[in-house]
Amino acid sequence: MWGSSRKNGYTGKALDIILSLSPDDNEVRLYRSFKCDVKACSACDSCARNKGQCVINDDMQAIYEDIMHCDKLLFITPVYFSGFPSSLKAIIDRCQMFYNYPELKNILPSKQAYILAVGGSRPYPDQFTGIESSLRYLLRSINCSLEAKLFFTHTDSFNGRFEDDKTDLIRDFALKMFTKGEN
Ligand SMILES: Cc1cc2nc3c(=O)[nH]c(=O)nc-3n(C[C@H](O)[C@H](O)[C@H](O)COP(=O)(O)O)c2cc1C
Repeated sequence: MWGSSRKNGYTGKALDIILSLSPDDNEVRLYRSFKCDVKACSACDSCARNKGQCVINDDMQAIYEDIMHCDKLLFITPVYFSGFPSSLKAIIDRCQMFYNYPELKNILPSKQAYILAVGGSRPYPDQFTGIESSLRYLLRSINCSLEAKLFFTHTDSFNGRFEDDKTDLIRDFALKMFTKGEN
């Protein structure tokens, strides 16, 4: 799940590094939320009445399937007003379906989540608190643990090239994600 509206921004470049390390036999589904047709949750509660069926017919139907059947979930996103960008938040809010159908959690295979988030500003208190707490709440509903997080600040001074130490951190994060649980 990629939350940026910019293809070649900080998260876009970080994603290039991560994907370049993905093993050949990995099946990767990339959802760029900015380009997804995912409407806001209308809180109609049909999913509670109809065993997890969301009545809104949009890209979220495919995303539900992938969330249920994937092994690992990566959230890679900028911080917007100390939270998720609205397009990615819409996807998270639509996961109310999982929250409203808790029996599903018992039959979903367990999975791991990873988050790489960036904030353009210099570090300030709670820059990533909103992102992390909303993500943790979602993960509880889908039988998913948060395995690793990587936060970068001050990304608005990014000039298109990572310093070596940042590249190393992103590579380590990716390798951890791709090797976890593999033999
Ligand atoms: C609408 C909007 C809100 C933002 N709000 C914050 C914020 O609250 N805190 C922060 O550190 N950066 C904020 N930023 C800066 C972005 O996090 C930063 O530009 C980031 O690098 C964008 O990611 P990208 O380069 O992958 O597009 C905001 C940017 C936008 C466009």
